[in-house]
Amino acid sequence: MLSKKIEAILVEQIEKEGFSCNLYLAMATWAEESGYPGISNWFYAQANEEHTHMLKLVHYVIDRGGKAIIPAFKKPPVEWKSIKDVFVQALGHEQMVSKSINDIVGACLDEKDYATYQWMQWFVTEQIEEESQVKAILDKLNLLGDGSLYNFDKDIMSFRSNS
Ligand code: FEO
Repeated sequence: MLSKKIEAILVEQIEKEGFSCNLYLAMATWAEESGYPGISNWFYAQANEEHTHMLKLVHYVIDRGGKAIIPAFKKPPVEWKSIKDVFVQALGHEQMVSKSINDIVGACLDEKDYATYQWMQWFVTEQIEEESQVKAILDKLNLLGDGSLYNFDKDIMSFRSNS
């Protein structure tokens, strides 16, 4: 059984993962409209992953006797200044999510909820990978400078891991 405190922060995380899904959908549609099919596919795939993260939390809360509340999500932005800007924003978002996951892990220790602490380790590892993928993309974009994005758009799916 989850404590009320742990249940509440897991429900907050459901909101953050759901918002992440919508944010990446918004980035995907913006990239598709802007003529970058590869980048748009990357963000659509990322949105699917975030949906999976949200459902993982939903099922865990229910399995542990809590109430998984599906919130209203705030509307994500609709425009970005450039391809680089969209990935800078994505990295900032992932860093925020990583901090949130760390806060949950810390709260689990405070509450002596070792089962949830253990279960959350999957998210800890996932966040390392998510930040690393976006950083690698930004490194490549920085190397490109103002050069053509055509080949980058074709190659971007090679940055996806198999998880
Ligand atoms: Fe599920 Fe990208 O955080």
